[in-house]
Amino acid sequence: MPSSSDNGYSLEELGTNPVPTFPCVDPGYFLAEKEKIFKRVWLNLCHETDLPNPGDFLVKSAPTLGIEVLLTRLEGGELRAFYNICTHRNNKVIRSPKSGNARTFSCGFHGWVFNSQGELIQVPDEDEFVNFKKCSFGLRPLAIDTWENFVFVHPEEAPEVSLQDWLGEISVDVSGGPLKKLRPTAKFHAIVEVNWKVFSDAFCEAYHVGTLHKRSVAGSFISRENPFCHHGGTRIYENHSILSVLGGNPDHQPTNAEKLVGEFGGGSYGKGLNGAFDHLPPGLNRARHDSWNFDIVNIFPNFAVHIGADFAYTYNFWPISAAKTVWDVSIYQEPAKTLSEEVAQNYMRVLLRDTLREDVNTTEASQQNMNSGVVGTMPLSKQEIVLRHRYKVVERWLK
Ligand code: FES
Ligand SMILES: [Fe+2]
Repeated sequence: MPSSSDNGYSLEELGTNPVPTFPCVDPGYFLAEKEKIFKRVWLNLCHETDLPNPGDFLVKSAPTLGIEVLLTRLEGGELRAFYNICTHRNNKVIRSPKSGNARTFSCGFHGWVFNSQGELIQVPDEDEFVNFKKCSFGLRPLAIDTWENFVFVHPEEAPEVSLQDWLGEISVDVSGGPLKKLRPTAKFHAIVEVNWKVFSDAFCEAYHVGTLHKRSVAGSFISRENPFCHHGGTRIYENHSILSVLGGNPDHQPTNAEKLVGEFGGGSYGKGLNGAFDHLPPGLNRARHDSWNFDIVNIFPNFAVHIGADFAYTYNFWPISAAKTVWDVSIYQEPAKTLSEEVAQNYMRVLLRDTLREDVNTTEASQQNMNSGVVGTMPLSKQEIVLRHRYKVVERWLK
C-alpha cells in the first residue's frame, strides 16, 4: 500500500510531527479562515438539478459568510448568482418560498422589483428618489460556474482565478466519470458541535472504519488482506486531494438485506466491478485496485465528493464558529430501473445515515476534549496524510 501521495508529495514535505489542535478551537483562527479563505475561493452551493428549468430560482445560504445567495436560471439556460440583499434598505429580496419559477422578484419591504438578471426594473413612487437611476441599483452579483453538474459561486463578481483554474488538475483527473449520470436521491442537514476541520477529517481517512464503524459497515470493508483498511492511494494537489478507499471483504457473510443490496444496489455492497474500470476517468481508483470502493475527492476548503462506480455522496462543511459547523450531505445515485433497485438503493441511503451518525458522535466528543486544551496535539499516521496536508494548506492561506 502506498504510504505517501502518489504524485510526489512526501511525508518529509508535509512533516511528521504531531499537528497542533489550536487551529480547531481558537476563535481568532476561525475568523482568519473566514476572511482569508472562505471569502476568497470558489464554494459549492448546489447541484444543477436544484434548478433545472429556465426561470427556476433557488435561495441557498452560505453560512460561513453569513449570507444567502439567489441563484437564477435564465431563458437561455445560463445560471446567475446574486446576494439575496435588496439594494434599497438591505431586506432579503426573497424570504419564502426559497425555490420556484419566476420572472421577477419583489422585495417585501417597499416593493422594489428585480428580474432574474438582477436588474432593478420597478420602484414604487420612484419620483421621490433624487438623482436616482434604477440601473445603478441592480442586485449585487457573485461569480458562478459549474463542474460536473455541481454549482459553485465565488463571493467576488470577477475573481482572479476561474473555477476551471481553481480545480486545475483534479478536474482533469476526475471529470467524465459517473457524476453527470447521477441524480440526487436524499439529503441530510445538521448543525454539529465540531470544528469544520475536525469534522471533515473524519471523512478523509479509513483508519477508523474497523473500530468506529464496527456495527455498521466494517464487515464489508475490513478483510484479512487489509485489516486496517489502508487506503488504495492518495493524490495531493496544491489545495485539493484524493484518497482511494478500498472495501470488498471476500469473507464477509452478508445478511439477507445485504445480499439484496449487493445484487441490485451499489455502494459498499455494490455489484463487483471485476476489474471493469474502463468507465472511470484516470484519477478515480488511479491504482485500479480490484477491491476499490470509492474515492474521496476533497475540493478545498469545504466540499468533498465521495465517488463510487455508480453513486456519489457530497459533503459541505460550513463553519459558523470555531467549534460549530453547518453540515449538508447529498446522496446521488443512478435512477432506479426496478423496484428491487429502488429498495436496495434505499438501504444504501439508510446505511450511510447510520454510519454518519457514528462519525458525528465521535467527532463531537473529540471537539469537547480539544476545547479543554489538555492534550493539544494529534500525531497523524501515514494513513492520515490527507488531514496533514489540509492543515498545511489552511496555514498557507492564512499567511
Ligand atoms: S428594502 Fe427592499 S424595497 Fe425597501
Ligand atoms: Fe466514518
